Amino acid sequence: MAEVVIVESAEDAGEIAASLIETLVLRRADAVLGVATGSTPISTYRTLAAKRLDLTRVRAFALDEYVGLEPGHPESYHSVIHREVTLPLGLSPSLVRVPGDSLTRGADATALDSAAEEYEGAIAAAGGIDLQILGIGATGHIGFNEPGSSLASRTRVKTLMHQTRLDNARFFDSLDDVPRHCITQGLGTILEARQLVLLAFGEHKAEAVAGALEGPVSASTPGSVVQLHPHVTAIVDAAAASRLRFADYYRDAWENRPR
Ligand code: GLP
Repeated sequence: MAEVVIVESAEDAGEIAASLIETLVLRRADAVLGVATGSTPISTYRTLAAKRLDLTRVRAFALDEYVGLEPGHPESYHSVIHREVTLPLGLSPSLVRVPGDSLTRGADATALDSAAEEYEGAIAAAGGIDLQILGIGATGHIGFNEPGSSLASRTRVKTLMHQTRLDNARFFDSLDDVPRHCITQGLGTILEARQLVLLAFGEHKAEAVAGALEGPVSASTPGSVVQLHPHVTAIVDAAAASRLRFADYYRDAWENRPR
């Protein structure tokens, strides 16, 4: 079972998640972090940046990337990770990877498959991911693993759901500009990280959070794969927790946690 922490705000969640990362990097300066994009992890990155730790030896792997955007496009996850993670945290750019970053423009399906395989190899060569930060989409996706993703899936190309394109259209000039395809770590890849930290805020995430943490484990609810992982901390605000059946128990367990 995941440890579920219900907090008052995204800032409080950021404090807890950033301390988990701090504990890891103080123990291991070259720790391997799995980093996520989206608005949810921003408070974690901000709090971590404010700690001014030396993170120059930390290695990082992003969860996912759009297919078809230039790497320099401001909304490619390559750019987002550079802007929101690599620069503020002071990571070494050469130690930060994003799926498909080995591709050249106009890559065909075979090149995408090879890039996905190469990414899996790079994670393995780094010794695996120590701590993976996860957000969750309204469709229940983690990374870009939309409903129907195999629970054993590896890094590969996926087609985005219409709802996900609508949700992400806010970052683009129009819905038509949102790519239809992505390359994402698989659910099986994510499960191999040694620790998962799942963050979610807001009422619009309540159903996805309840499905992930308390629903049946199913490919139709990709986030539910976290129930198969032995070391998960889910940090959610009260709105995102509003559909959790055992919310009172989680609050009690956190308040009375063994010190
Ligand atoms: C995106 C990303 C996910 C992210 C999710 C939630 O589509 N691929 O990794 O967790 O959407 O985004 P947000 O945190 O902005 O709600």
